[in-house]
Amino acid sequence: MRVLVTGGAGFIGSHLVDALASRGDEVVVIDDLTTGYADNIHPAARLAEGDVADRDAVDAALAGTEVVFHLAAARAVLRSVQQPRATDRTNTAGTLNVLESAREAGVRRVISTSSSSVYGGAVVVPTLESAPLVPRSPYAVSKLAGEHYARVYWELHRMETVSLRLFNVFGPRQRPDSQYAAVVPLFIDALTSGHIPEVHGDGRQSRDFTYVDDTVAAYLAASQAPAEKCAGRVYNVAGGREYSLLELLAALETILGVHLPPRHVDARPGDVRRSRADCAAAATGLGWVAKVGFEEGLARTVGWFVQR
Ligand SMILES: NC(=O)c1ccc[n+]([C@@H]2O[C@H](COP(=O)([O-])OP(=O)(O)OC[C@H]3O[C@@H](n4cnc5c(N)ncnc54)[C@H](O)[C@@H]3O)[C@@H](O)[C@H]2O)c1
Repeated sequence: MRVLVTGGAGFIGSHLVDALASRGDEVVVIDDLTTGYADNIHPAARLAEGDVADRDAVDAALAGTEVVFHLAAARAVLRSVQQPRATDRTNTAGTLNVLESAREAGVRRVISTSSSSVYGGAVVVPTLESAPLVPRSPYAVSKLAGEHYARVYWELHRMETVSLRLFNVFGPRQRPDSQYAAVVPLFIDALTSGHIPEVHGDGRQSRDFTYVDDTVAAYLAASQAPAEKCAGRVYNVAGGREYSLLELLAALETILGVHLPPRHVDARPGDVRRSRADCAAAATGLGWVAKVGFEEGLARTVGWFVQR
């Protein structure tokens, strides 16, 4: 089967490309390499360097495609506050562009990528997909807009769409060297280079950390589940457990055999206090459950960092 992966040079997208190439799919990647890297891409896949908001670039990359995995995005929440237009162009207009070109090209299914940020700090934890959605950043607004566009393309045009709300993904290839880096690579980088890890606030805020192989398995499941179960729907994709940042740090210290008491810095304004997904819908609709334990995923991630 021929598939297109948008954002396939990025952290999650490149792992998905590996899995698709391994199962024998013909994989095309469209990526503008703003935060992705060409050398992340599996040698059997073809890179079409381009912008997902550019109609001609997406049309050209889509020829002959049966399933689209849409992961390309400006994914930094803080950057979206500083540069909302750029975020909206890539995430909202880019998603609409991918959906419209896919419809015109006769694509059967588009799996689109949303985020736990659409909940904006849910009151009820574990959080169901039906919880109130209160996006609190331009990034989160753009992700929610993308979900609605995906649903509308199923309802209006019967192009099968599935949106996945990802929660705090971590694993190999996630980079610590950006001002918008995620907490897992930042902590590993600090601990392995002898720098004091920085913790925002008291460190008791929790996240639902998801190992990247589990996230990739959810995309594969979403590409294979029967349309009558999943088309037009949105699913939480998460480890389904909750760990505080201090627990994360302690787990990494155990794996690495080091102990560096953190420096507490100002809490981030608007930081969500608790985050944990209810993933029962994905089990029913997609036949997917997370399999990799938190410590196991961290050990694999540390192994990659240390070898790099
Ligand atoms: N990492 C997480 O914890 C997390 C959580 C929730 C949702 N997500 C979503 O998962 C997806 C992948 O995120 P990631 O963590 O792998 O980030 P990433 O930055 O590594 O990957 C995004 C990729 O999209 C590409 N890209 C950006 N703008 C583009 C454009 N205009 N045209 C073409 N390509 C473009 C980048 O070059 C990069 O390769 C994103 O949609 C993100 O919003 C990630």
